[in-house]
Amino acid sequence: MLDLYAVIGNPVAHSKSPLIHTIFAQQTNQSIQYDARLAPLEGFISVVENFRQQGGKGLNVTVPFKLEAYQLSTHLTERARTAQAVNTLKFENDEILGDNTDGIGLVRDIESNLGIAIAAKRILLLGAGGASRGVILPLLQRQPALLTIANRTLHKAEALQQQFIPHGDIVAVDFMDFPDDKFDIIINATSASLHDALPQIPAEIFSHAILAYDMMYSQEPTRFLKFAQQNGVQQWADGTGMLVEQAAESFFFWRGINPQTKPVITMLKSQA
Ligand code: ATR
Repeated sequence: MLDLYAVIGNPVAHSKSPLIHTIFAQQTNQSIQYDARLAPLEGFISVVENFRQQGGKGLNVTVPFKLEAYQLSTHLTERARTAQAVNTLKFENDEILGDNTDGIGLVRDIESNLGIAIAAKRILLLGAGGASRGVILPLLQRQPALLTIANRTLHKAEALQQQFIPHGDIVAVDFMDFPDDKFDIIINATSASLHDALPQIPAEIFSHAILAYDMMYSQEPTRFLKFAQQNGVQQWADGTGMLVEQAAESFFFWRGINPQTKPVITMLKSQA
């Protein structure tokens, strides 16, 4: 009997999670079936309940249900509680355990796969929505010199700054009033790339940067990554590595085993 897992979202058809988890299960000899479940926008909870009644053991949760998954959880990890978003659910008896592996996925991709230490670096995080909120605590835990959150709408960046001040050095700015600071690592956590748009950021910020990172993954480099390349950034990456690393951390949350991520990242990048 295979243990049942799935990714739930809307849309979900193009998710790479079933492929990634199926490879992880083969690597580690786990008897798992992993598929994709499309939930109607108003129907997240009933699709989750159906899945549990079928014996489902765990879910990855993607857009736009991470807040609902957070609210549904009966227990939360610290990183899920601070992110106020859940991307991984585990069903155990009557409990619903909620975790958020997005931030650790980003940190592992930057540090282990791209080989860039976050400690003592000046980090610029673009965006102040759910994607940004999910990665702030794990970034701060790596002790950067400073984390600057820049957002088109200043008050959202300031709200995040207030929430995370106890965890590290963090400032908030808007796009109209960009600081002259030099940044080492610039991360795009806005949803602009989804709409093939470019946040209105100054070109000069890339001239001293080691890394431009777009949390979105796509076949073609996003406009943000092209802009960074054109303006002198040393290295760039899309979110493929983050996707695989967050999946590996979810797999560990469910199964207690660490799969190998590098071969999967290499395979996905070669398909792009
Ligand atoms: P997500 O969960 O993907 O973060 P969200 O919570 O809707 O989605 O947040 C989207 C983020 O992308 C916000 O920071 C948004 O900026 P505003 O708060 O000013 O709306 C940002 N964003 C979206 N499109 C953008 C664009 N074209 N340029 C700059 N920022 C953009």
